Amino acid sequence: MIEKFLSADAKNLRPSAIRALAKYLNDPNVISFAGGSPNPETFPAERFAEIAERVLRERRTVSLQYGPTRGLARLCEFVAARSGVKAEEVILTTGSQQALDLLSHCLLDAGDIVAVELPTYIGGTSAFYARSATLAGVAQDDDGIVPESLDQLASKKRIKFLYTIPNFQNPSGRLMSQRRRDQVLEIAHRRDFLIIEDDPYGELVYVDGADTTPIKSRDRDGRVLYLGTFSKILAPGVRCGWIVGPKALIDRIEIAKQAADLCSGMLDQAIIDEYCSAGELPAQIERVRAFYRGKRATMLAALQQHLGSRAQWTSASGGLFTFVTLNDPIDTASRLEQAVGSGVTFVPGSPFFVDGSGQNTMRLTFAKETDGRIREGIARLAHVFA
Ligand SMILES: Cc1ncc(COP(=O)(O)O)c(C=O)c1O
Repeated sequence: MIEKFLSADAKNLRPSAIRALAKYLNDPNVISFAGGSPNPETFPAERFAEIAERVLRERRTVSLQYGPTRGLARLCEFVAARSGVKAEEVILTTGSQQALDLLSHCLLDAGDIVAVELPTYIGGTSAFYARSATLAGVAQDDDGIVPESLDQLASKKRIKFLYTIPNFQNPSGRLMSQRRRDQVLEIAHRRDFLIIEDDPYGELVYVDGADTTPIKSRDRDGRVLYLGTFSKILAPGVRCGWIVGPKALIDRIEIAKQAADLCSGMLDQAIIDEYCSAGELPAQIERVRAFYRGKRATMLAALQQHLGSRAQWTSASGGLFTFVTLNDPIDTASRLEQAVGSGVTFVPGSPFFVDGSGQNTMRLTFAKETDGRIREGIARLAHVFA
């Protein structure tokens, strides 16, 4: 009965294939390389508890009151200073997921074409599908987007924007080279489309010499809309992300956000604001890097030991994921149940490819498990794909 009342956009909503795996994530007998959440051990919980008590008692007119739609002024300024832009070019959002939704709302009409990486983040594609956009895939190699693939697409179709995650991409873990970033921006200029640069993982660097300089840093005409978030460096439960873009667009997004939620959670912003103003963020980022660095090394070594001759994987020089491609044309999704039965779980790669390819791929996170369980889990996985 309700179906006939649904909007065209609501009919285009697509459930996340990853969220469907959630039921396996909390079974202690199953070693989980699925999911994409940061490890709770990295959360600055004690400091947040102290700060929360203080802001609740002493700053109640800020922390418990409605606040500015643009976000808490001092936190906006902090974010702007870190990005080297003016505060008027920044809006804080309820996580960068809301940034994806608001940008889609403000930029997309039904049928507009969005170019996305093959593979790409499902929360991004969900936001674009929700506005009835048409998604077109662009090839990647180890250096990121293949410029010829993007240019070829843009020569055939009028692209509204390219959605890219250049730093330690979800799901592939890849880092786009700086040369490729220049080429991508040049194509965007020549073919006249916007770029949404989503960067939740840029601070999670585990190797020397990884150059994470954003595309936004060489944007001269307000073509690049940069998204950041505190989710992976602090905690995702304090829902706080941001958009950096031209003031004219940020002003529009502010109006769209008024309709969406009036303002993001003020308690969340007040806690993060106090934490950052006290100068605690750089040391926290170092702690988070150190925490994941060893887990990443353990996973890569285990992959080499158990799957070395049968698969290839990305080096995950940062972020939370490595992406595995099996040499044989095995559909990883068809082995998921068997894997769970063997006490290990992963995310099949295909849902990350908007063209339906990637059957022989899977995403593995090293964020959740201990070193011992990572080694054991990869051994089990190798058995499943033997
Ligand atoms: C690429 C990418 N963008 C955006 C998000 C959303 O992050 P949040 O809304 O917590 O800032 C995620 C979360 O995993 C992500 O991987």
